[in-house]
Amino acid sequence: MRKTIQTAGLALLLASALATAQTPYTEDSTYRGLGGQEGIGKIVDTFITLVLADPRIKESFADFDMKQLNLRLREQFCEFSGGPCKYTGKYRDKTMDGVGTVRDMKSVHIDLKITNAQFNALAEDLQIAMERHHVPTSVSNKLIAKLAPMQRDIVTK
Ligand code: HEM
Repeated sequence: MRKTIQTAGLALLLASALATAQTPYTEDSTYRGLGGQEGIGKIVDTFITLVLADPRIKESFADFDMKQLNLRLREQFCEFSGGPCKYTGKYRDKTMDGVGTVRDMKSVHIDLKITNAQFNALAEDLQIAMERHHVPTSVSNKLIAKLAPMQRDIVTK
């Protein structure tokens, strides 16, 4: 029951956030609520573990370098929560032989043909990771709301 309410709440949040501009916060209360860089590091570690164990989405990540993805997500969550980081978008996958590229969210995800259901599954895993690290709901909802507008670029199927 709790799960149903949570999922419904999340869907609502994602929908309402689609209308919001995709810009980082100008103050850092969300960043601090996440526990700063240390807290974000722990959240991203747990998040990636959950994603890689999630039968709904784990296959999508099979060919990619999770260490690099981990670093990029730390950067992105830090910047989007108002922290002192800048997302560079530099990412090397295993086939790129050490050459970094800078790609926007659309070009990163386009070949993966991601569905709404996959997007929601990933957002749910992030929500669970934040819960596990005792992030208050008011804070976790703010990060999710910041990331939600990316759905437009990421979901292409
Ligand atoms: C709010 C939703 C999402 C966010 C914020 C997000 C964020 C990111 C970021 C920051 C990267 C690293 C890109 C780079 O450094 O160039 C990335 C890569 C990736 N994402 Fe997402 N993502 C989201 C949703 C998804 C979903 C739903 C899937 C699949 C189910 C997915 C699969 C991947 C994969 C496989 C990569 C590696 C792609 C590559 O390097 O070519 N993402 N994502």
